[in-house]
Amino acid sequence: MQKVVRGTLFSEEQIEHRVGELARAISDDYRDKGNVVLIGILKGSFIFLADLSRKLDIDRTVEFIAVSSYQGATSGAVRMIMDVRGDIAGRHVLIVEDIVDTGNTLKYLIQILKSRNPASIKTCALLHKAEATVADVPIDYVGFPIGNEWVVGYGLDYDEFGRTLPYIGVIDPD
Ligand code: IMP
Ligand code: MG
Repeated sequence: MQKVVRGTLFSEEQIEHRVGELARAISDDYRDKGNVVLIGILKGSFIFLADLSRKLDIDRTVEFIAVSSYQGATSGAVRMIMDVRGDIAGRHVLIVEDIVDTGNTLKYLIQILKSRNPASIKTCALLHKAEATVADVPIDYVGFPIGNEWVVGYGLDYDEFGRTLPYIGVIDPD
């Protein structure tokens, strides 16, 4: 099965610029709160988190959670595969997602993490498919809203295709 990237949605330059803006907004909001725990959702957020975390100018810690929610482009049940290592009780948590589609993954994670009594939980997603979101979840920081297309690159994949492209492109998932 040969996959082709149909076109560039966001170039490397556009992504870098927007990640910088997000980092400034997040830094300003957390400056007086002390250390923020950035929780990246694997695998998709690994590049976004790497760039975002290096652009912050506040105290921060990095953690990862791995979930499995998709087989190809078909939505399935959310399942945690790997949990954070550190205790988040009393900590300011920022969940970092590559993309929010239905919002089910984020809703599931917020529920789990809230039960561990963090000082606060906020969410940051590089991309948001607003029309596709059905779960009632707050997304505090959004990089770019996009339409209902399947995108790859900058961490995002289609069955592992396209994950390490430096830009974000659209594919036909048939
Ligand atoms: P949700 O639970 O439906 O919000 O799905 C979130 C997850 O689905 C994201 O973290 C991605 O891993 C994956 N996903 C949704 N849309 C896309 C896309 O267009 N490209 C790549 N992955 C996607
Ligand atoms: Mg993901």
